[in-house]
Amino acid sequence: ANRPIIAIDGPAGAGKSTVARHLARYFGLLNLETGAMYRAFALKAMRAGIALDDVSALLALSAQISIRLVPAEGGNLVFLDDVDVTGQLRDQCVTDGASRVSVHPPIRTWMVSLQQQLGAEGGVVMEGRDIGTVVFPHANVKIFLDAAPEVRGMRRYEQMGSAQSVEVQPEAVVRELRARDERDRNRADSPLKAAEDAVILDSTNLTLEQVVTRAEEIVQEKL
Ligand code: C5P
Repeated sequence: ANRPIIAIDGPAGAGKSTVARHLARYFGLLNLETGAMYRAFALKAMRAGIALDDVSALLALSAQISIRLVPAEGGNLVFLDDVDVTGQLRDQCVTDGASRVSVHPPIRTWMVSLQQQLGAEGGVVMEGRDIGTVVFPHANVKIFLDAAPEVRGMRRYEQMGSAQSVEVQPEAVVRELRARDERDRNRADSPLKAAEDAVILDSTNLTLEQVVTRAEEIVQEKL
């Protein structure tokens, strides 16, 4: 396939974004971060004062929102109603909000169809939780990136580093990440799990460089 679809799924902190970015650059594909779409939607809902479990209000909101992903050097820029909100999407409350709005089936149905439109022409690396299982079950390559929770938590903590204005405890980061995972894995609609035909890549004992190299090999073998 010369316009392939590559699906990268897995829990938070497994290294999906880094791997997806590298693969996109290496193979000349568009990198699309679906988590950023759920984050942008959560941000809009929170700004509108909508309770994150009010499904009908959320659904009404979804009908009047524009979310655009623009591939850039360090990851996607995200435009919410034509305003760049990229800098706000990593806040803890937005992260938590994204995890909460994404459990609602009608919200997922809407998001999945947006994501299917974005990838319809192929030539994409799409990263998320349900890309290989739900969004593009016929993706040319599926990689499920995993790592032990403690390792993912520590990586996330180190990433936060200087960007954080208030002191965060590593234990708190691990706890938050586990809570988000639990919610992703246990929701009834499209829970986080590896597709049957996904290649599982466990990065627990690998450096990021090794993970990226292995991912490149997996894609080479399949394309
Ligand atoms: O990948 P990221 O951490 O940015 O995703 C934020 C949240 O959005 C996740 O915790 C998950 O609940 C949700 N999500 C999802 N399906 C996707 C991508 C993200 O449910 N395809």
